[in-house]
Amino acid sequence: MKISVIGCGYLGAVHAASMAELGHDVVGIDVDRLKVEALQQARAPFYEPGFEELLARSLGSGRLRFSVDMADARDAVLHFVCVGTPQKRGEYAADLRYVEAAAESLLEVLKPGDLVAGKSTVPVGTAARLAELVRGKVPGAMLAWNPEFLREGYAVQDTLHPDRLVYGLAPGDEGQAARALLDEVYATIVAAGTPQVVTDYATAEMVKTAANSFLATKISFINAMAELCEATGADVKQLADAIGHDDRIGRKFLNAGLGFGGGCLPKDIRAFMARAGELGADQALTFLREVDNINMRRRIRMVELAREVCDGSLLGKRVAVLGAAFKPDSDDIRDSPALNVAAQLQLQGAVVQVTDPAAGDNIRRSWPQLDVVDTAEEAAHRADAVLLLTEWKQYRDLDPVAFGSVVRQKRVLDGRNALDRDRWEAAGWSYRALGRRGG
Ligand SMILES: NC(=O)c1ccc[n+]([C@@H]2O[C@H](COP(=O)([O-])OP(=O)(O)OC[C@H]3O[C@@H](n4cnc5c(N)ncnc54)[C@H](O)[C@@H]3O)[C@@H](O)[C@H]2O)c1
Repeated sequence: MKISVIGCGYLGAVHAASMAELGHDVVGIDVDRLKVEALQQARAPFYEPGFEELLARSLGSGRLRFSVDMADARDAVLHFVCVGTPQKRGEYAADLRYVEAAAESLLEVLKPGDLVAGKSTVPVGTAARLAELVRGKVPGAMLAWNPEFLREGYAVQDTLHPDRLVYGLAPGDEGQAARALLDEVYATIVAAGTPQVVTDYATAEMVKTAANSFLATKISFINAMAELCEATGADVKQLADAIGHDDRIGRKFLNAGLGFGGGCLPKDIRAFMARAGELGADQALTFLREVDNINMRRRIRMVELAREVCDGSLLGKRVAVLGAAFKPDSDDIRDSPALNVAAQLQLQGAVVQVTDPAAGDNIRRSWPQLDVVDTAEEAAHRADAVLLLTEWKQYRDLDPVAFGSVVRQKRVLDGRNALDRDRWEAAGWSYRALGRRGG
């Protein structure tokens, strides 16, 4: 099928290359000329495991190209909208200007029978509004909402093998025709037996924000337990293991630590609250405000813990920060808890050296005031404290014996409860972590 993908960021670029991998003829459109040039030359503009190989393969097959010109989407019959929906400045609501701009420019190339399939995460009600616009301007063109659930770090795998497909469709014949097109584009995925949820626009939009709200709540729940553990001397890791054995609860997403960040969860729960307010249902989501508060408090607590460990003052103390992306296996630093902590430490007088296997260039660009080094050993050189803030495998696997020789003080703060405490303590380190007893 001839398809276009509008917006080639973390979501769109992976989607475009994956659709070409599935055999479709794909054009990726973005307004960012540099990004389009990089993609066209098979250079990934961001770090995502397996993506560069997939991109090279798809470009090599001749089924994928990128362009800044929407006119190149004219031949496509299915147009995926994958542009960003960030938080508005100074407000909780989502900023829909990119979605609106993408829709406006798509109207210039849409033909009767074409399907616009929204993948961006949008406030409930957006699809119905855009559908009116599309039908009003191009009679016979259709709209569906097909939210995306990929996880950065697993984006290729999640796009090619999603755990479900959600279609939000218009009622009647339009919905049936849209479904047929979506089933055709995802034929391989459908044939693999992937569960499908076929529903209306509002439910499809809400599936995404509800899923993210649930995940955020689960993380903040265990982090609230971590606060209690800190107050009582209990151990949150053992607590999580114990309650996680109950399969109604489950152990996943129950790791206490520095909390969530990134370009999705924080802004999605805030946009959900804002939308609930507009709909007169704000009480239903006031709990998300507390979920957000608990999450943000962990960053403050981490800084306090670092100060405690550094004998009560951060002034002039050398602090190594291992990990800066919002999660491992990504270079995404949007609302990164690790960077938030690193910046707070620096503002409070610490000499901070940050390192990250993938996010270095992004940090240098967006946070030029932070010192970025290439390796954990450089970051930890003569450090008074080492903070693990993003649990990349190479940091989890560090040898605490050898690593102990580069620091001034063997003090490690495990912001992700990801290190083997016994090993680090056996190598002479004092080990501290959120929600756990001091050594
Ligand atoms: N990143 C994820 O893990 C993920 C997962 C699921 C859903 N989402 C959702 O997907 C959407 C995109 O997220 P992202 O992380 O890819 O964002 P991103 O910022 O990485 O990418 C957005 C892209 O859209 C482009 N763009 C903006 N306006 C445009 C226009 N008018 N025409 C063409 N291109 C335009 C930007 O240049 C950018 O490259 C968001 O709604 C997000 O919430 C993201």
